[in-house]
Amino acid sequence: MLVPVDDAAPTPSTCISGDATRPDDVVLTGDRPTGALHLGHYAGSLSTRVALQGRCAQTLLIADLQALTDAGSRAADGAPVAVASQVEEVALDYLAAGIDPTFTTIAVQSRLSALAELTVLYLNLVSVARLERNPTVKAEVELRGFVRDIPAGFLCYPVSQAADITGFRATLVPVGDDQLPMIEQTNEIVRRVNRMSGAQVLPECRALLSATPRLPGVDGRKASKSLGNAIPLAASPDDIRRLVRAMYTDPGHLRSSDPGRVEGNVVFAYLDAFDPDEATVAELKSRYEHGGLGDAPLKRRLEDVLEQVIAPMRARREALANDRAYVRDVLRAGTERAGGTTHAVLRAVRRTFTLD
Ligand code: TRP
Repeated sequence: MLVPVDDAAPTPSTCISGDATRPDDVVLTGDRPTGALHLGHYAGSLSTRVALQGRCAQTLLIADLQALTDAGSRAADGAPVAVASQVEEVALDYLAAGIDPTFTTIAVQSRLSALAELTVLYLNLVSVARLERNPTVKAEVELRGFVRDIPAGFLCYPVSQAADITGFRATLVPVGDDQLPMIEQTNEIVRRVNRMSGAQVLPECRALLSATPRLPGVDGRKASKSLGNAIPLAASPDDIRRLVRAMYTDPGHLRSSDPGRVEGNVVFAYLDAFDPDEATVAELKSRYEHGGLGDAPLKRRLEDVLEQVIAPMRARREALANDRAYVRDVLRAGTERAGGTTHAVLRAVRRTFTLD
């Protein structure tokens, strides 16, 4: 009954930006609750999800079990930080960003037992060698300095992610390009399940990549919570000012009359992502490159642009922060609805494995 592993590796189909959706697409994305969401999340994925609302069935999964596999979510003594409160923070960020729970289901991964059961079944379809070859896993192994002590839960998280995606019969997954190997592994598992059962038990999925390139942190490095270089969605006007003033521009651009570099300039990366007035941004770039535009007025413009983006989120967040009961209700109702879907998928997959 079991099919051999490691025999299939076609590349997944990938599409860019929202116009690639089909009306019957089922959309699923997840986030690890490892800290407040920031503008990089908004530009890269959250704004796409807001735009998809009402166009397709959509679920946002807060991946708290996956967060446990992340060494960064642990305190120095090895104990997990309070994951449950981080889950609520992420839900709050979603709602503040404009996710409407009447259109979008928000669910908590660890409360969906069918996803854990699917993971256990799928583990029989994947080899350790295949998991070790996953480029994202490989990069993280290096980043975290795992040598021979790779936690099994960490190594297997792509399988758990395949359970997340298939548990909702998702066909479209809006993610960053670092997640493409996860989509590929998911589709390998889907094909194996379908081959085992001789029927289309599960649909294959496509990745939906954002048209916005990855936003750097204010210092030009990768945006990360631990480096404190990201601009949180909940930033105050003071935070925005402080972080924009700290932005890396062009160290060779000493006087405003000097020609400056646009490429690698963090201020322009943010203007490209958030300034709706593209013509003016193009003109500013040309003035900057020719010399005659200082960093200070450019940064003031960016402060205004970011305040426009963040102010409505801040207002919604403040209104909701006083109503934690509402946030918990949203999670409870969303998770309950998701439970129906994931259990139906589990029943079908159990039959494929001849357990029922
Ligand atoms: N691995 C994703 C991340 O880094 C989170 C995630 C968990 C996810 N489950 C998912 C993404 C399912 C898309 C679909 O942050």
